[in-house]
Parts: sequence; structure tokens; C-alpha cells
Amino acid sequence: MRILSGIQPTGTLHIGNYLGAIKQWVELQNSKNFDEKTGCIFIVVDLHSLTVDYDPKQMQKMILDVAMDYLAAGIDPKKNTIFVQSHVKEHAELSWLLQTITPMGELERMTQYKDKSKQNKENINAGLFAYPVLMAADILLYKTTIVPVGDDQAQHVELTREIARKFNNKFGQTFPEPKTQLQKSGARIMSLTNPMQKMSKSIPQGCIFLTDSEQTIREKIKTAVTDSGKEIKFNETNKPAISNLLTIYHLFSGKSIPEIEKNYENKGYGDFKTGLADVVVDNLRKFQENRKKFEKDPELVKKILTQGAKKAQKIAEETMEEVKKKMGLI
Ligand code: TYM
Repeated sequence: MRILSGIQPTGTLHIGNYLGAIKQWVELQNSKNFDEKTGCIFIVVDLHSLTVDYDPKQMQKMILDVAMDYLAAGIDPKKNTIFVQSHVKEHAELSWLLQTITPMGELERMTQYKDKSKQNKENINAGLFAYPVLMAADILLYKTTIVPVGDDQAQHVELTREIARKFNNKFGQTFPEPKTQLQKSGARIMSLTNPMQKMSKSIPQGCIFLTDSEQTIREKIKTAVTDSGKEIKFNETNKPAISNLLTIYHLFSGKSIPEIEKNYENKGYGDFKTGLADVVVDNLRKFQENRKKFEKDPELVKKILTQGAKKAQKIAEETMEEVKKKMGLI
């Protein structure tokens, strides 16, 4: 079993990133089945983030920020491998090789490509188009079997499976077909301002960022949209806004949704929102306190990333040798 995932350094992470992805990484690390020898691989995928406009002067800080978020959330660098994608050159190399067997039509179908092309009309670059192949390279380079991500990345993992199949058929069995692992609930956290849209930093008002102050969190939750009727009931079709807030409450508190519904029986949205804000503030306070320790010691974080890249490089080199042999390059 090989578990791998990654996040782009494109700005402050929000609770969608945390509840959809990082939280399940920590749970995997703390589960009984966790294999201490192999651990999990968590990448800061900087090469992916170059496909949208960015400020080169800020890039190093943004990379370090994501690494600090991983560590502050509880990812243990002794048990896992944490590194920066561009530090292991094999990612870009394998991506090119896999591009030569990836049909254009498949890439044209990708929802994220279509969305981002609409958002960035002035910068629809070839990297944005080939983005899912680089993600396939990240995954296949380590012969990954499980990819814990949010729902929006499932289509990319599906494409990775197809690329793996294609490669295996053409050049001989090499890659396992990785499976997407989603949170049972929370695989898609929705925006606080529009429950029909996923929480995304492109709509900051609808996001709770991991670094938001207590006051900001309380304000954002207070002004979050609600549905008609006063009942606190989970019903994604008729009450999408309250269902989203219940999911967030459930994931942060560990309480089941029926239990939360019962606690707020005959109480209004106001009480429920205050309770939700308490739970979110409490959880993010712990995260923010942890993060401060790493912020004070960026050298330690850099050291962790260097050691991680070394560990990853070894596996990456082995895979590349096998791939190149099979493709007739050596
Ligand atoms: P990225 O950086 O956009 O998002 C990081 C993770 O956060 C999850 N996520 C959400 N989950 C639930 N609700 C939301 N509103 C929400 N918003 C974001 C994403 O699903 C993701 O798990 N292409 C990837 C990064 C990547 C990668 C990889 C992932 C590159 N190589 C290899 C896994 C394996 C991406 O853009 O994620």
C-alpha cells in the first residue's frame, strides 16, 4: 500500500482543504493499519501552481506556508515523507513521458481545466492543459495505490488510472491503478456564501481560512447563508446551506449529525451558528498555536523538506529507470 497526496502553494489554505484532504491524512497516519516503514507521501506541488498567475517573489514563502500547514495539522515528518515537488526532478520527467500516451480528448474533458480556463481567460497555457498528467506523474512515480483527496480531484485520479492502464498495456505491467479515497462526509465543503458552489479561495468571503482570527471566523459564520425554515436538519436537496454547516460541525467536533440535530432541536439558526463558531474557533486555535512554533523555526521546516526530497528521490530514480528501460530510452 502506498498513500500519496499533495496541495498547491497558491495561498492560505481553507477549511475545505483541511476537512477534505489534510484531516484524512492525519487520520490515516494515526490509524491501526498505518505502515511505519513506508509511511505516506505528502507533496507541496509547486510546479502545478505555476499554471496560474503568481508572484515569483512570494513563491518560496507560499511553499513554506503549505509545509507548515501540513506540520501544524499533525503530519509527522518522522513517519511520512514531506517534500517540494520541484526538488525531485523526476516528476517533470515522468510527466513528459506520460503526456506522450495521454489523449488530448481526455484532457479537454477535465472539469478543473474548463473552470480555470474560464477564470483565467488571459492565461490559458499549455501547462494548465497538461496539469492532470503532472498529477498522474506525482502519483505513479511512487507506484501509489491510494490517493486521499477532496471530491474535486477524483476526476484527475480517474485519468491517472487510465494513463496507468495505457502504459501497462503498451510497455508491460509497471504501475498499479491508484484509488481515490474520499472523506465519508466533507469530500466537498461548500462556500458559506453560496452552498451550491464549492468552498474555494476565489470567493474569500465564503471561505474560512486556517489562519483567520476568532473574530473573522465568528463573523463569517454569522453571515453564512441559511435555508428557508428554521429547522436544523440535514437535507442536501432542500437545505443545502444548513447541511453544509452541519457537515463542518460534525467533522470538527466528531459528533454525529443526528446528535447535533438533536442538540439544536427547537433552537434557531442563531444558536446553531454560535455553537458551530465555538467548535471551529476551538479547533483552529489548536492548529494556529502549533503553526506558530513552525513559523518561529523556518530552518527546521526547510530541513524536513530537504530530508523528504532525499527519501522521495530514491524511489523516483528507481521508477524512472524501470520506465525508461520499458520505453526503450536506456
Ligand atoms: P488543491 O491544491 O486544489 O487542493 C488541495 C486538496 O484540498 C481539497 N479541496 C477540498 N476538499 C473539500 N472541499 C473543498 N471545498 C475543497 N477544496 C479543495 C482538494 O480536493 C485537494 O485534495 N491537483 C491537486 C494537487 C495535486 C495532487 C497531486 C493531489 C497535485 N498532485 C497528487 C493528490 C495527488 C490540487 O489542485 O489540489
